[in-house]
Amino acid sequence: MEEKKTILSGIQPSGELTLGSYLGALKNWALLSNEFDCFYTIVDMHAITSRQDPKELRERTLAQLAQYIACGIDPISNTLFIQSHVPAHAQLSWVLNCYAMFGELSRMTQFKDKSAKNEDNINAGLFTYPALMAADILLYQADLVPVGDDQRQHVELTRNIAIRFNGIYGDVFKIPEHYIPKFGARIMDLQNPTDKMSKSAIAAGGCILLLDTPDDIIKAFRRAVTDSETQIVYDVANKPGVSNLIEIYSVCTDKSISDVEAQFAGLGYGSLKQEVGDAVVETLRPIREEALRLMEDKAYLESIYKEGASKAALTANKTLNDVYDKIGFIPAPIS
Ligand code: TYM
Repeated sequence: MEEKKTILSGIQPSGELTLGSYLGALKNWALLSNEFDCFYTIVDMHAITSRQDPKELRERTLAQLAQYIACGIDPISNTLFIQSHVPAHAQLSWVLNCYAMFGELSRMTQFKDKSAKNEDNINAGLFTYPALMAADILLYQADLVPVGDDQRQHVELTRNIAIRFNGIYGDVFKIPEHYIPKFGARIMDLQNPTDKMSKSAIAAGGCILLLDTPDDIIKAFRRAVTDSETQIVYDVANKPGVSNLIEIYSVCTDKSISDVEAQFAGLGYGSLKQEVGDAVVETLRPIREEALRLMEDKAYLESIYKEGASKAALTANKTLNDVYDKIGFIPAPIS
């Protein structure tokens, strides 16, 4: 039997999960999870590159695990774990920091964006963040990394670091590929459709959360910014708001963009907003209900992340030991 290929991906618990995280990443995580050997992590170490309230971080981390499962990822056949529970991430990240160049880290769009938004907290972790992300991926010898479009550059950097390292020490790391969906990879803010929908811009009302009530979702879509024309056509450059609504509808209903355009031909923006709102409500309803149920069962969630941490550590430590050996570290005495 052919061995299953490996997937790794993660989401920061720095805010609530959004429709963007779902359509860009989680939906595909679930779809791919039957075919691949999947490691899905909650990257709490990444989250502290911006200041977090400890109590909220703890709660969000657990709620995020419940939402992973509620999205349809089977926690038995896949490995779900919390990044800080597997010390190899921090350990490999240090090593990779020594193989990631200042110049390439300086070019990362996410670093530039986040430092522009948080001028008072441009910490070193924010800068070296991609080396930790590279460690996340490379520890598991992942073949595929399902992410939204904004992570393309980080996966590319991961490949470059891995190729550089392998060039010196031989084939230590598998070179991973990104998996970015054709549609849904860049869901835009409903109020500012030229900005990405983001968990850090909830207040303005342009962001849908996975746990939002049906009422809130419908209201947010009714208020979605469109344009002063009337035609429902997909044209991202000139009609970003309408195109975003079409794309969300297309991904939620599994209809092609042209089928959606045909369905709404001659209709007004009001009916588009109503239909998209309804489709999102129906997509998220089972996820929300299951997540809320699971969030009550802390003992179950604990059993999942404990099991996940030990499974993940087995694979991660193998890679870490190989790396330590290759770079010339003396094996640590077993205590
Ligand atoms: P994060 O936590 O910002 O986002 C999680 C995932 O959701 C996708 N995403 C979106 N997709 C479409 N439209 C949107 N508006 C949208 N917003 C978010 C992101 O592309 C991502 O796939 N650095 C990563 C986390 C990470 C990681 C990893 C990912 C750490 N280590 C290893 C993969 C592999 C991040 O900040 O994602």
